[in-house]
Amino acid sequence: MARKHTLPTKYIFVLSCVGLVAVALIADFLWASSASSSRYSSHYLDWSLEKSIHLTTSTNAEKVDAKDKKPKVPKADLPIYGDLPGPQLEWEERATAPVPRLDGAAIQIKDLLYVFAGYGTIDYVHSHVDIYNFTNNSWGQRFDMPKEMAHSHLGMATDGRYIYIVTGQYGPQCRGPTARCFVLDTETKQWTDLPTLPVPRYAPATQLWRGRLHVMGGSKQDRYEPGLEHWSLAVKDGKALEKEWKPEIPIPRGGPHRACVVVDDRLYVIGGQEGDFMAKPGSPIFKCSRRHEVVYGDVYMLEDGKKWKTLPSMPKPDSHIEFAWVLVNNSIVIAGGTTEKHPITKKMVLVGEVFQFNLDTLKWSVVGRMPYRIKTTLVGYWDGWLYFTSGQRDRGPLDSAPKKVIGDMWRTKLSLS
Ligand SMILES: *[C@@H]1O[C@H](CO)[C@@H](O)[C@H](O)[C@H]1NC(C)=O
Ligand SMILES: *[C@@H]1O[C@H](CO)[C@@H](O)[C@H](O)[C@H]1NC(C)=O
Ligand SMILES: *[C@@H]1O[C@H](CO)[C@@H](O)[C@H](O)[C@H]1NC(C)=O
Repeated sequence: MARKHTLPTKYIFVLSCVGLVAVALIADFLWASSASSSRYSSHYLDWSLEKSIHLTTSTNAEKVDAKDKKPKVPKADLPIYGDLPGPQLEWEERATAPVPRLDGAAIQIKDLLYVFAGYGTIDYVHSHVDIYNFTNNSWGQRFDMPKEMAHSHLGMATDGRYIYIVTGQYGPQCRGPTARCFVLDTETKQWTDLPTLPVPRYAPATQLWRGRLHVMGGSKQDRYEPGLEHWSLAVKDGKALEKEWKPEIPIPRGGPHRACVVVDDRLYVIGGQEGDFMAKPGSPIFKCSRRHEVVYGDVYMLEDGKKWKTLPSMPKPDSHIEFAWVLVNNSIVIAGGTTEKHPITKKMVLVGEVFQFNLDTLKWSVVGRMPYRIKTTLVGYWDGWLYFTSGQRDRGPLDSAPKKVIGDMWRTKLSLS
């Protein structure tokens, strides 16, 4: 008897599940359509890094269709996804950088922030360095990078005078990588070569540790496949002490755009993603096209150089944070980034929180919210203030998808607990 009753119930349940999935899929398509049809006036319209909300499975027919549809739902009704509550910090605007930058790199040495390379637009990359002085709030010198140096997705670390620069993407859109590595002497502004990495990588985790330059993870040569490999090179005073990079213990999870920090003789790798935009096959300009990505908040630590230890994950998945961190009072502070894509619109979701990882307690917390959500920020800390500049910001408080590439500089008085 009981059996007779349960079977149809189950059947109905399955049927209604199928129905729900179908409704969800249709709704999903409508959302995606309306999202891509929204009109915006700025010239960033052509920025495919921000606007390609379609996964590789979506067809051109869908895209054409989508263009003709009006948004079905007012912007204000779009559910905000992924924001975490936190105090609204008080931010002050400082001197704007000479150029806007996405995927640039930055290294702080004393009261100077050296800002390198990056996309100005998807079709134009910078090949110079700008220097910001925290004390006098001005962008002073500008000088050129070596012609062979990558323009984005660089790995970078400093010993306080020399800046070590490894691999990265060479050129705009989703062009190929270079394995070339360089050193900048910040006192003489002279560039020298370092041995070439065994194979090129996009945005590998990079740090100096125990006299060796460590490079790990990143994306492989196709810009998409996560690399797990890890190499190191003995360096001193801006020079390589060895001719070749040495293999080291692979990292448990690969991928680009992670924070890599050495504190108290331990090496930490934080956040990142698997997968990234790839060049469209056959495109003469290597046009970026979006692929499936998995953003994560994993934290790995190397203590003895032989075994990775897993530490508590970030409060939410976070990527594009390679130059978005500072170390203050034995805490790693990280500003902005990207998190998992919006479940309905499928658009990239930017991060607007400042996070703290307290290394005494191994606890994560949200310090507060930024003036807007933003990825690939370049972050510094000076005299009690947390600074960030550059990156790609959101469309507004109600829309966390990427829009404008900026050069704005902001600061807030930092108070950690
Ligand atoms: C930054 O600016 C201040 C004030 O003008 C100056 O005293 C300091 O030397 C500058 N820093 C560097 C490293 O040039
Ligand atoms: C700020 O300091 C830098 C040196 O770090 C200098 O080149 C620049 O001229 C200074 N700017 C102002 C406005 O004092
Ligand atoms: C760091 O610690 C010092 C000493 O306890 C304190 O005065 C300072 O405010 C702390 N800095 C931040 C950013 O919380």
